[in-house]
Amino acid sequence: MLAFSMGAWAQDYTVTVDTQKPGAVVQPTMYGIFFEDINFAADGGLYGELLKNRSFEFTPDHLMGWQAFGKVEIKNDGPFDRNPHYARLSTMNHNDWWTGLQNEGYFGIGVEQNKEYRFSVYARVPEGKTQMLRVQLVEPYTNEEHQEFCQQDVKVTSSDWQKYTVILKPNRTVDKAQLRLLMCEENGRSGRGTVDVEHISLFPVDTWKGHENGMRKDLAQALADMKPGVFRFPGGCIVEGVTLDNRYNWKNSVGPVENRPINKNRWECTFTYRYYPDYFQSYGLGFYEFFLLSEEIGAEPLPVLNVGMACQFQNGDNAHAPATVEGLQPFIDDCLDLIEFANGPADSKWGKVRAEMGHPEPFNMKYIGVGNEQWGEFYYERLKPFVAAIRAKYPDIKIVGTSGPMPDDDEKATYRFQDGWKAMKELKADLVDEHYYRDEAWFLTNGLRYDSYDRKGPKVFAGEYACHGKHKKCNHYRAALLEAAFMTSFERNADVVWMTSPAPLFAHVDGWQWRPDQIWFDNTEMFKSVSYYVQQMYATNAGTNVLSLTMNKQPVANLEGQGGLFASAAFDAKTGEVIIKIANTYHQEREVSINLQGMQGDRIAETLTLSHDGMNDENSIAQPTLITPQKGTTVVSSDKKCSVLLDELPPMSFRIYRFTR
Ligand code: AHR
Repeated sequence: MLAFSMGAWAQDYTVTVDTQKPGAVVQPTMYGIFFEDINFAADGGLYGELLKNRSFEFTPDHLMGWQAFGKVEIKNDGPFDRNPHYARLSTMNHNDWWTGLQNEGYFGIGVEQNKEYRFSVYARVPEGKTQMLRVQLVEPYTNEEHQEFCQQDVKVTSSDWQKYTVILKPNRTVDKAQLRLLMCEENGRSGRGTVDVEHISLFPVDTWKGHENGMRKDLAQALADMKPGVFRFPGGCIVEGVTLDNRYNWKNSVGPVENRPINKNRWECTFTYRYYPDYFQSYGLGFYEFFLLSEEIGAEPLPVLNVGMACQFQNGDNAHAPATVEGLQPFIDDCLDLIEFANGPADSKWGKVRAEMGHPEPFNMKYIGVGNEQWGEFYYERLKPFVAAIRAKYPDIKIVGTSGPMPDDDEKATYRFQDGWKAMKELKADLVDEHYYRDEAWFLTNGLRYDSYDRKGPKVFAGEYACHGKHKKCNHYRAALLEAAFMTSFERNADVVWMTSPAPLFAHVDGWQWRPDQIWFDNTEMFKSVSYYVQQMYATNAGTNVLSLTMNKQPVANLEGQGGLFASAAFDAKTGEVIIKIANTYHQEREVSINLQGMQGDRIAETLTLSHDGMNDENSIAQPTLITPQKGTTVVSSDKKCSVLLDELPPMSFRIYRFTR
């Protein structure tokens, strides 16, 4: 018996949903993710490689990340022309002196008990005498009798470069291990002779989907679990670079990993209060891997490429050494070649590279971003020839332009947000990327932002956004709740907002530069932020069409002042369900009556609720599930005119209802 006495509460808030008239389409790309190669998100994070500076290419010190002992020399005529450096290990003059190398990993190397790790090395013995390498996992700072807890030997037998592989299976879990490589004789004494080593690598065998050059499984799974509709990569400012030479160069990120030239990560030095002089990009997680991951998690790939300008935000209005308009061709070619790499036939120049990497079928890329957070004439005049070239060769590809780093014009219109939109309309960009890292008040007062947008112009891509808390609070509950509240305005304006993706995905707890982020991790564990759960709640309850919703007869429910309630509704044509989302940003419970026009009868609604008392609380490695959405049910009852859902929304909460129409 579902019916209960209507009118038992005095509802101050009546939400009315017209359940019978599905409106604008909610694009499948509506809720997406944004990968920025920051916070050790790629090397040291999602990318499975556990060793730092595996190819001895870091500069100025080619042994960064390594501790060398005995006789170690760096040479530069190795087997990989774009990564020519390698290490030569030779005998010391006494059996008790050892020669070897020890890698510190990224804030240590995380290994788990009884899991397998694939060690590999390119090696040769230039003098032809077989040499043994002892490979050890060690815990350098330990009270145990033995530092080493896992060991295997590799015999280097050839004077030609060859790849040698061995599996390590540690007997304990260690979060901050190191890898030690010793020249060694069979009798256990120090090695006699010479051995050259290059591209020394350690990977978990059990990567995401078992790919050998694969990704950390728990982190990739967390992405898949978000059910993203679109995947923007490889980042924002990383695309631009500190200088143009330092920009993300996708062509360096494809082909055999051993020969992908490294790049200095631009986030190494951006914040001197969090400075990482050994932060480089191995490009081991490159564009092929990004496209493959997009496919595997069911998201549309959205690569972003450089428009011929280095980081404009960092370098000022005259972006550092921008390419001249005449000198743009290589940048335009990068875009055209990327489309061929993703979509071209396997016998085209770049399609062949993709096919040789293991994916003869096209990736079916539909979108390309050109520029990140660019603004002003510099940008507009550069973007123009890109648009012309892409339209001419690939008319179906949708082009994403940018509106600068700020979501509004300030008094002086420094970043020229409005201008940017005007220019994007004139250039006929398909979508415009808006970014807003804003405070709590902004998120509470901008719910009507998209109501006034031109419905005939380019569509909105809210490509980076996050609510920043007071006192530099990040990833805390209150901020995530306000993001949830604001996101109702995306849904309500689905006719113009086609894509969204929040603040960067990943951050290493020991190596971050930027907060907030969606997923945090250390070397063996991870946790999902409350913002992650908000995104997941939306993406898994997106629906296919907007339903009209009013509150207390007001046309919208997206403004502070409406009792702190924010709401939106959608219909899911695939399941025939109505989905209603309501955020209560008020510090007290709210009683609401949800009138479901066009529906009669009783039914059960499934609910998913995010609710928590401590506004500054957040999830953490120690308490990864402190704040998570909880499932429940509630009743939809009959009234004379329509079905009605009466509910008490907890203070500061976000709830999604789902039920059949
Ligand atoms: O992801 C952090 C940075 O924030 C992005 O690189 C940039 O686009 C934005 O300013």
